Amino acid sequence: MVSSVLPIASALLIFGASEVLGFTNSATDNLAVYWGQNSYGATHTSDTANWQKNLSYYCQDDTIDAIPMAFLNVFFGTGGEPSLDLSNICNVNDDAVFSGTQLPDCSFLASDIQACQARGKIVTMSLGGATGANTFSSDSQASAFAQTIWDLLLGGSSNVRPFGSAVLDGIDLDIEGGSTSYYTTFVSSLRSLMNGGSKTYYITGAPQCPFPDAYMGSIINAEGFDALYVQFYNNYCGLSNYANTNDWNFATWDNWAKTTSPNPNVKIYIGAPAASTAAGSGYVDVGTLGNIAQAVRAQYSSFGGVMLWDASQAYANNRFDSGVKAYLTGGTAAPTSTSSHTTTAPTTAPTSTTPTSTHTSTTSTSTSSPGSCGSVSAWVANVAYTQGNQVLYNGDLWTATQWNYAETPGGSSGAWTDNGACASNAAQAPVKVASFSITTTVLSRTTTTPEPMKVVVPVVETQAAAKRSRSFKLD
Ligand SMILES: *[C@@H]1O[C@H](CO)[C@@H](O)[C@H](O)[C@H]1NC(C)=O
Repeated sequence: MVSSVLPIASALLIFGASEVLGFTNSATDNLAVYWGQNSYGATHTSDTANWQKNLSYYCQDDTIDAIPMAFLNVFFGTGGEPSLDLSNICNVNDDAVFSGTQLPDCSFLASDIQACQARGKIVTMSLGGATGANTFSSDSQASAFAQTIWDLLLGGSSNVRPFGSAVLDGIDLDIEGGSTSYYTTFVSSLRSLMNGGSKTYYITGAPQCPFPDAYMGSIINAEGFDALYVQFYNNYCGLSNYANTNDWNFATWDNWAKTTSPNPNVKIYIGAPAASTAAGSGYVDVGTLGNIAQAVRAQYSSFGGVMLWDASQAYANNRFDSGVKAYLTGGTAAPTSTSSHTTTAPTTAPTSTTPTSTHTSTTSTSTSSPGSCGSVSAWVANVAYTQGNQVLYNGDLWTATQWNYAETPGGSSGAWTDNGACASNAAQAPVKVASFSITTTVLSRTTTTPEPMKVVVPVVETQAAAKRSRSFKLD
């Protein structure tokens, strides 16, 4: 026995950890974590020490397997080139743009990306936020855009590569508005280019959990995706309703994978907020999420792992990412939850998922201190806010109605709801920190709740926002 162990140990030494621990799409313990939008910074504007760091900061251990960078939010911008926004790390305000374009030069991230890849992780670009600007008008335009993405980010070549010599591992689609015409052409054209490449490339998507997804549905039915990071939050079908079998619908997605998806091996991830401030609703603590992931994996073979939004929130929330990863890889010794809603879900392979009513006890509405706005931070122009975020501005409390960037509260965009003056609003309007009340989730069944993984800034607005935020530099 001893002699059979030694060669394995030797092999590990020879080939090194990165050879052994490379990303495997077919695995069921993958952790995908979005990076780029500094979600923590948007909700904790004064705690700059915990703002999003450069990419390689999140690749120093073996916790995260896949990093979709968010977002390439403009398809056809100035000079016919795309634009992208990585919040405090790289954007059109703070970084040089390629001549005649609004495409920032983020090539200082090339070594970061390559460092993550050297550790066996994949780094992809999330194309998103479907606004009216990100639509295709013809098949030829869609296939030309596939060539653009290939040349700028993947295996092609161009003199305007935003990440320089780094070759990303694929793309992620987060389409949540506008027309989806010709998107299937885009995906199939890109897949053809990828198939001719010299390494494996991946195409993932991030639909919201209501099935079928209003925008992604027709695309994922027509083209093979490698994985879907389904957003089980901000909706009735989210994680906080796991106990309600009428709401929680992973089974529907699993069935879709096996019966409808052109790629029957597509992996389905449970997409989750990495902190209570990362989404409007759907946050559950690490123990609850870990137990749900284990139960779902035991029941559904399409399960591929967990997706978190986003890296900044996870790191600031007691390394939520490594907590989740421990459940994905371990399957034993689940950490005891310190919250009141301990789950009764078994930590190992249950044969059925028995909903536990204790999940509903997570329903809570936090209120600010009476007569004040509590710990709500002042609005800052150069951070991205997501729906439900609250800020102070001109003495009032404001709540974001949608993802927005550099949209002044009270401005014409309607991105903010005025909750009134701070001195008086607390008594009349509780400040929802974690707004997953039963009422909210039931109501959201009939509405299309905007969600945080979304860039809704049209081209023109982005440029205007860029100008405005120059006078609001935080750092
Ligand atoms: C990221 O890296 C660049 C280049 O090394 C550096 O200038 C910048 O300060 C870093 N940003 C953060 C947030 O660490």
